[in-house]
Formats: sequence, structure tokens, C-alpha cells
Amino acid sequence: MKITPVNHNKKQFLALLLLGDEQESMIDCYLERGTLYVLQDPEVRAVCVVTDEGDGVLEIKNIAVSPEFQHQGYGRRLIAFIENAYQTFYHILRVGTGDSPLTLPFYERCGFREVRRIPGFFTEHYDHPIIEAGKQLVDMVILEKDF
Ligand SMILES: CC(C)(COP(=O)(O)OP(=O)(O)OC[C@H]1O[C@@H](n2cnc3c(N)ncnc32)[C@H](O)[C@@H]1OP(=O)(O)O)[C@@H](O)C(=O)NCCC(=O)NCCS
Repeated sequence: MKITPVNHNKKQFLALLLLGDEQESMIDCYLERGTLYVLQDPEVRAVCVVTDEGDGVLEIKNIAVSPEFQHQGYGRRLIAFIENAYQTFYHILRVGTGDSPLTLPFYERCGFREVRRIPGFFTEHYDHPIIEAGKQLVDMVILEKDF
């Protein structure tokens, strides 16, 4: 298994990125300024995008594992890789996600804790309803963990 940064033609991974964030115009807001990592084992299995948010905060903007390879530890390995790679330079790792049973337990198992919510984020910023586990996402849940 290897995890490597991708600097060119990041959109070749759009199908996976859309699993983590289903509106392409939202992905366009962070893909170029962010650092994209691809996990291969040996084929591409997962992606992750992180951005520098200033004040020692690194944010996970997108993380996605191919559906057939979910729940096999790849997501956790990507988080561990990010923590290891950035621990010298950052003190908080942040992620924003929907109030969904498909994602919140994953982040909590990886040691993140909810710090606040952004009311109406998904209904205001997305051009269509985002449905997860049969429920429309409304607020964004912000979770953080210390490096
Ligand atoms: C969310 C996602 C990235 C998790 O990656 P993954 O490789 O499936 O997760 P892992 O196998 O590494 O799981 C790590 C831990 O989280 C737990 N977990 C993962 N998904 C879970 C879920 N839906 N419910 C409960 N626990 C979950 C696992 O049981 C595991 O816990 P353990 O180590 O104590 O056994 C992946 O499922 C995914 O790509 N989903 C679709 C895209 C998406 O929603 N991305 C997040 C956008 S915010």
C-alpha cells in the first residue's frame, strides 16, 4: 500500500472525489489550493484532500474510499498518514461533515470530537438536496482533533 501526493490532472480522480463531496463546483473551491493524496493497494482505492486553514489548522476537505473497499481500514490509514505527515507543522486537524450515521461514527472512531455546527450549510451552499442514509443534510458538523 502506498499513499502519494498528486500535483497534476487532479480531476482524473473526480469519480472518487464526488463520493466524498457530491457537487463538483464545491470540489473546485478547494481542489487546486489543497493537497490531494491517493492511496493505492495496488490499484487506486481512496483519496483525500487537505488544506491549510491558517493558525496551525489543517482541514480535511474530502476523503473517500471506493465503495467495494470501504470498512477495510483504508479511511483510517489515510487519516493516520495525514496526522503523521503534518504533525510538525499543525496543531489541529479539522473536518466538516454532514450529520450522518455514515460519516460521524467514522471520524469519532478516528479520535475527532464535535466542536460546533454551521447551521444550514448544506441547504445554503449546495444546489440540490444532499441525502445520506435517507435523511437530508442541513447543518455542517465541525469536528477536530489535536495532532
Ligand atoms: C467515510 C469513509 C471515508 C470511511 O472510510 P473506511 O475505509 O470505510 O473506514 P475504516 O474501515 O477505516 O473505518 C475506521 C473506523 O470507523 C468505523 N466506521 C467507518 N464507517 C462507519 C459507519 N458508517 N458507521 C460506524 N462506524 C464506522 C469502522 O468500524 C472503524 O472502526 P474500528 O477501527 O474501531 O473498527 C468511507 O466509508 C467513504 O468513503 N464513504 C463515502 C464517502 C464519504 O462519505 N466521505 C466522507 C465525506 S465527509
